[in-house]
Amino acid sequence: MPRRAFPFPLAPEVPLYLAPMAGVSESPFRRLCRAHGADVVVTEFLSAEGIRRENEATISKLRFEASERPIGVQIFGADPQAMGEAAAFVTDVFQPEFIDINFGCPVKKVVKRNGGSGCLKDLGLVQEVIRAVARATSLPVTVKIRSGWSEEMRDPVTIALRCQDAGARMLTLHPRTRSQMYSGNARWEEIAAVTQALDIPVLGNGDIKTPADAIRMHRETGCTGIMIARGSFGQPWIFAQTRAMLEGKPVPPDPTVEERFRIALEHARMADAYEPDRRGAAIEFRKHLGWYAKGLPGSAELRKKLHAVTSLGEVEGIFADYLAHGERYADTQRDPERDLEVAEA
Ligand SMILES: Cc1cc2nc3c(=O)[nH]c(=O)nc-3n(C[C@H](O)[C@H](O)[C@H](O)COP(=O)(O)O)c2cc1C
Repeated sequence: MPRRAFPFPLAPEVPLYLAPMAGVSESPFRRLCRAHGADVVVTEFLSAEGIRRENEATISKLRFEASERPIGVQIFGADPQAMGEAAAFVTDVFQPEFIDINFGCPVKKVVKRNGGSGCLKDLGLVQEVIRAVARATSLPVTVKIRSGWSEEMRDPVTIALRCQDAGARMLTLHPRTRSQMYSGNARWEEIAAVTQALDIPVLGNGDIKTPADAIRMHRETGCTGIMIARGSFGQPWIFAQTRAMLEGKPVPPDPTVEERFRIALEHARMADAYEPDRRGAAIEFRKHLGWYAKGLPGSAELRKKLHAVTSLGEVEGIFADYLAHGERYADTQRDPERDLEVAEA
């Protein structure tokens, strides 16, 4: 295998990945990001237990469309056998391009059963899980890790080497520890160290908010590919802008307000069609609306309205009203959502 070959066919030299994000990178958003220049997408993390028991809610989140390919399905769990069975099911029924193992999730209810970043406390277990999954599937197995469980156990290079040794074909590093959750800065120098130490492709992830950040990460770390999570919220066009910047081409400008609303509505219609419970879909979609409205003049007022919608029709009405009477949306108050976002993530 040539150094850094991706484990599935992929055209661009520096591919851009939409990160796995629970409750965000669902099929409609994945399709939208692919259309706006993401080269590869990954599902949100799905429980191996849920998959092997064929839990309806879990299985429904495995569905994807041909236009989303290349796609990875991400699974989590600390029981090697359950992880293997889940991988075999995903392979037989869904045939994604790769299966990604989540060793990064910091959420309490996941780590208390040693899932996600909980596995990082025991690198023997990490390897057992990777080997069990690799044995159970013919697809490439990839991993997404944090830099360690805690500051004392922070050692991304050792963790990454152990993953490679167990058979991981690509690795994404989010260079924070579990105990940091989302605080502090992602330590990009750890991405550089891991890229240097490994033979397999390494995706850099963490704190890319603009196309310029992505270019800087690539330049500073030499990472093989780039994975964007929160930077895609309400701006799927970040991928096309980053691609242009990477290739030294003119960078498409940010969309106008009209274009932004058009894209938001396209996304909302996809979400509406995807979810059988339409009211539920609209309520679920409120967070995306908030992100699309972020930074617009009068966004506090606009977001307040958008955060109360219960149907797609209401969204159309609010956008139309804003475009016709934008002057009524004066910024009379601080926008609390902006601070909330980072805290929630
Ligand atoms: C809402 C949300 C949900 C997430 N869900 C997942 C997940 O299901 N699997 C995973 O590996 N990482 C998940 N992450 C972590 C991201 O993939 C990414 O590693 C992290 O946000 C850092 O990248 P960023 O700075 O570009 O956001 C999630 C992050 C957010 C904000």
